[in-house]
Amino acid sequence: MIAGVPVTDDKLTPMLPSLDDLAPARRPLDQAAGLPPSMYHEPAVFELERELVFARSWVAVARHDQLATTGSFVTAEIADEPVVVVRDSTGALHAYPNVCRHRGITIVEGAGTARALQCPYHLWTWSLDGRLVGAPQMDRTAGFDPAAECLTELAVAEWQGFVLVNLDPTAPAFDATVPGLTQRCEPHDVATLVRGPSAHYDSAFNWKIQVENFIESYHHAGVHPETLQTTYPGQHSFVEHEGDEPWSWLDHVSVVDGFDPFAVPIVYPTLGFVIVRGLGGYWFDMRPIDATHTSLDIVTLVPPDAPAEIGELLLESAVHVNDEDVAINERTQRGLGSRFAVAGRVSHLEQACWSFRRWLIDRLEPGLA
Ligand SMILES: [Fe+2]
Repeated sequence: MIAGVPVTDDKLTPMLPSLDDLAPARRPLDQAAGLPPSMYHEPAVFELERELVFARSWVAVARHDQLATTGSFVTAEIADEPVVVVRDSTGALHAYPNVCRHRGITIVEGAGTARALQCPYHLWTWSLDGRLVGAPQMDRTAGFDPAAECLTELAVAEWQGFVLVNLDPTAPAFDATVPGLTQRCEPHDVATLVRGPSAHYDSAFNWKIQVENFIESYHHAGVHPETLQTTYPGQHSFVEHEGDEPWSWLDHVSVVDGFDPFAVPIVYPTLGFVIVRGLGGYWFDMRPIDATHTSLDIVTLVPPDAPAEIGELLLESAVHVNDEDVAINERTQRGLGSRFAVAGRVSHLEQACWSFRRWLIDRLEPGLA
């Protein structure tokens, strides 16, 4: 064997990393390394994340203004599970599996407003609060009990204007998991912001490449030298994060007069947003597709009475910056597929990446040897 050239059959026998492989990512920040490269392309890792992370975490599916009125609904997929969230006539939100209890088809698609949730196949119909109120031609079916055919209630939460769902019936209430972040968001009036214009990206990289790029500004000098770095130098960015709470807050100072500083909070795994002080912000709606594909909607968030130009201005600058990030993220994915890729050492400017990785490993631990 030539020194320094790893001889491996990993490409032939894909494997989950062991807890020993992940141990360097759990060390204190100044001693830590990143995640093993296989974490970013191995389908077995993605399947484990689906079960132990996304099927058990709070995942944002909408903003409040998408669910403002009685009967307004949105659909989403969480851990490959179709879900629907709807507001009932009392103002309460409900999240249900978007799966007909008759033949299994998705009950509704997309988003909209409905008086009831009606499956288009055989017209079984549920009230907005989940009771089966119509099931044609089922009167000769022995023992058929509409009361036993309610839609299953999933955990749903509204926080800072985000609507979140958790597939895990034992999950603690969302609010209870992020008190420090709630406090930190308070002065910024995030809850009242509504959606402005948005941009959609389908990208060929792992969802964690998207998240990690989002939560560090170490890369401003390399990737955004003409844009972010001139106003918000990466070396002046800093991270705040409280104990074991599953979030971090990446903040920036502006070195140019007239530019408001911006903060990048994230609740793990994927509720990323941006607060542009004095203007509004963004929801970075990041959704994993498979081990090497992620979708991203950059949704501008603006005050309800803001002129349309504010949203357009916000979107234009975010798209410009994100196009620079996409190119770099795609190259990261390519490089991490190499047998020569390593779990690299970590800068103090990557504290949020470090914290996110430790949180992730804690979630995956029951599935790893
Ligand atoms: Fe960037």
